[in-house]
Parts: sequence; structure tokens; C-alpha cells
Amino acid sequence: MVRANLDKQTSQVSAMFDQVADGYDRTRARLWWGRMDAWGREMAAAANAGPGRRVLDVAAGTGTSTAALAAAGAQAVACDLSLGMLGVAGRRHPDLPRVAADAHALPFARGSFDAVTISFGLRNIGDVAAALREMLAVTRPGGRLVVCEFSIPPTPLNGALFTAYLRHVVPLIARRVSSNPDAYRYLAESIQAWHTPPRLGEQITAAGWERVAWRPLTGGAVHLHVGTAPR
Ligand SMILES: C[S@@+](CC[C@H](N)C(=O)[O-])C[C@H]1O[C@@H](n2cnc3c(N)ncnc32)[C@H](O)[C@@H]1O
Repeated sequence: MVRANLDKQTSQVSAMFDQVADGYDRTRARLWWGRMDAWGREMAAAANAGPGRRVLDVAAGTGTSTAALAAAGAQAVACDLSLGMLGVAGRRHPDLPRVAADAHALPFARGSFDAVTISFGLRNIGDVAAALREMLAVTRPGGRLVVCEFSIPPTPLNGALFTAYLRHVVPLIARRVSSNPDAYRYLAESIQAWHTPPRLGEQITAAGWERVAWRPLTGGAVHLHVGTAPR
């Protein structure tokens, strides 16, 4: 079984997601208590996803996040590195356009999207700064970036509770429901090693996005960052 390390080599990350693809949605629903639909709706609203808007969902996985954008009326495109995850997306959401691509080098016309979203994907990408710049390149001037990602809640009580959940409960659930429990050790480790929300905000700004802001969801276990492409 393949599991990625915190250096996040693209080939390892892709192989790991290929291996968990079939059971990914089931495991995710158990781990996060069915909160994903609400997070997807928040992301779609923050991206202003609606009729007439073209939205690229980077690291779309099995397409659940892309489907939330399409449900809001946008013309949403799912893009991911893992052919296994995209295969599941094709079966679950046959109407969604899917593109196999690496976030470090997106194969889309410059400035061609009204918004670019990435949910629970940025943390898995080797060169976060390069991916943020690449997402900016394919967004039109004035268009929007939305990053939805796990975080250790900034308040001490929620932070301690979520850290304990990651360390002790996630491995137990993963052992019971996942085909590759090791991949979920990576999940827990990568969340704990991830940037704080202000630090991620700085990185998004450094990549060239403007008016960067963020807010917590689910007690701070998830944060939604929003940025605007310069006009
Ligand atoms: C945790 S899943 C998130 C899927 C989906 N966005 C969701 O909210 O359920 C992370 C996804 O990131 C993808 N990924 C990781 N590195 C990537 C890269 N460099 N380029 C494109 N996708 C990548 C993986 O293949 C995986 O499908």
C-alpha cells in the first residue's frame, strides 16, 4: 500500500489516492460526520458559483466538491491528478466535465475561469506557492479563489479536541472502513503539519491574490480562504 509522506511527491500522492478512490466517499462521510455537503455549499457560495459562471475545481477527487458547484448553477470543471479518483467521479457524476491534470501546471487557457476552488486538496500539493500562482493564471482579472482546508482550531479547547480526534479516532475509523488505513495516518499528520489560517492567508497573498480573507467552519476544524485576482 502506498502512502504519501509530508514531502508530498506528486507520484506518491497520486498513487495513494488511486488506492483509496473506491472507498473514499464512504470513509470521508464516516470521518467527518457528513459535514462535507455543508462545506461544499459554503465553498460554492464563497465562489459565487451560479448560472453563467465558469468554475474550475482543482483536486476535485471523486467530484463531490465539483458537484456542489454545479448544483449552485455554475459550469463546473473537475480537475485532478489521480485517474482513480477521476474514474469514481465519472461514475458518480457522469455529467461533470473531468480533466486529468497536475495543479502545478494547469492545462487551461490563461484567465479562462470566473473562479477557481480547491477543497481539501492544497495540503496535498508539493509546491503550494506554485499551485496558487497557477490557479491565479487561469482565473480572469477580478475572479475568485476559494480554498477550503482543514486546520487545527485556533481556540485551545477546540484545538485540543480536534488534535485528539485526529490522533486517536481517525486511525480507529480508518482501520474499520478504509482499504488503506495508512493513507489516513498521512491525513492526520498532514493536517497537524499544515499552515495556520493566517500563515495560509499570507501564502495566498504572496502568490499574487488580493483582498485575501478567511473564516472558520465547524468550530475551526476547517477554514475557508477567499482571494481575488488583480484587475
Ligand atoms: C482529499 S481529496 C479532495 C477531493 C475533493 N476536492 C473533496 O473535497 O472531496 C484530495 C485530492 O487532491 C488531489 N491532488 C493531490 N495533489 C494534486 C496535484 N498536484 N494536482 C491535482 N490534484 C492533486 C488528489 O488526487 C485527491 O483527489
